Amino acid sequence: MKRYLLTLTIALCAITLKIEAKESMTSLTNRVMSIAIKHCENMDKALEPGRSPRYFGEGKFADKDIKWWCSGFYPGTMWYLYENTGNEQMLALAKKHTEQLSPLQWYNKNHDIGFQIFCSYGNGYRLTGNKAYEKVIRNASATLITRYNPTVGSIRSWDSKKWKYAVIVDNMMNLEMLMWTANRAKDKNLRKIAITHANTTLRNHFREDFSSYHLLDYNPENGEVLIRQTVQGYADDSRWARGQAWGLYGFTMMYRFTKDAAYLKQAQGIADMIIGYLPKDGIPYWDFNAPDIPKAPRDASAGAIIASALIELSQFLPEKSEEYLAVAERQLRTLASKKYLAPVGTNGNFILRHSVGHLPGNSEVDVALTYADYYFIEALTRWSLLGKQ
Ligand code: GLY
Repeated sequence: MKRYLLTLTIALCAITLKIEAKESMTSLTNRVMSIAIKHCENMDKALEPGRSPRYFGEGKFADKDIKWWCSGFYPGTMWYLYENTGNEQMLALAKKHTEQLSPLQWYNKNHDIGFQIFCSYGNGYRLTGNKAYEKVIRNASATLITRYNPTVGSIRSWDSKKWKYAVIVDNMMNLEMLMWTANRAKDKNLRKIAITHANTTLRNHFREDFSSYHLLDYNPENGEVLIRQTVQGYADDSRWARGQAWGLYGFTMMYRFTKDAAYLKQAQGIADMIIGYLPKDGIPYWDFNAPDIPKAPRDASAGAIIASALIELSQFLPEKSEEYLAVAERQLRTLASKKYLAPVGTNGNFILRHSVGHLPGNSEVDVALTYADYYFIEALTRWSLLGKQ
């Protein structure tokens, strides 16, 4: 009897220890990658040819044609999965869904060509060196700068007649493709346009606490700021979570290319402001100033973008490195938990749940979104490259 009790106690202790042992980031990453690969394979089977995943919510899956701003994220996610695992099926599907975006290299109706082409062809070129992909990226950069007005010093985001010359903070993200192309092609004009756009955004979009407005309308004749407002946030003067995330990622990325101290200072200011608004688990409410916090929906997409940006920024700021990596780790652990990471065969074959697209427009609220998946897998890739456990 005594022996039996001793064995039982040892077994119980072992089980408790196992439950309490923190999963290593390596094991977490491997676990997420294998689930993500299955989601991506199933997504390919579910998609009609030429379509792109958009969202899954309330039991409904929505896709979109390739002109939708998000069309680069699904192939981009698969490029990262291939990079991490060497999975040949991911390589084949990444190529297939990248190459169907080819007509976009000439598409000049909005600023999103940077998201669309660089997440897909950009990662594809980085991993394969395919020269044809480089050509598409160069063409897309030439297309994007047709939207630049030197008087404003910015690339126009949207053509809607509601505004004279709308520029949203999200547009910082498109500069990555321009800076990359400028370096490859030794094109000073592209570089100048990207840097001028970043400087104009830094000067006009931001408030004293490093938070940003979503949209600025400019007078295209003289560059005067006409309106500072929100479209996707709670209020003109609130802090729309994904807008803050785009700003953080954008200025961190611009520092990577230029080593301009002003961009690093801006990125650090944005990071510290964001961290001050994060809930304990690291996943932001859709707007930091949503009036119904803590009942307001979370935005996993903003959490994933912030995690990815903080990992990069941590490498530029040794004195903040530990703090930023601790926040990013907390975010990644939450995103990899049952609440956010969807089991295979559910969630419309998206990886993450609980993002918000456009709450004031009553569109894509608390749904799965393709860019949450992309930046989550990118962040895990960046984490793996740090060589930490
Ligand atoms: N760039 C559009 C969005 O973040 O919703």
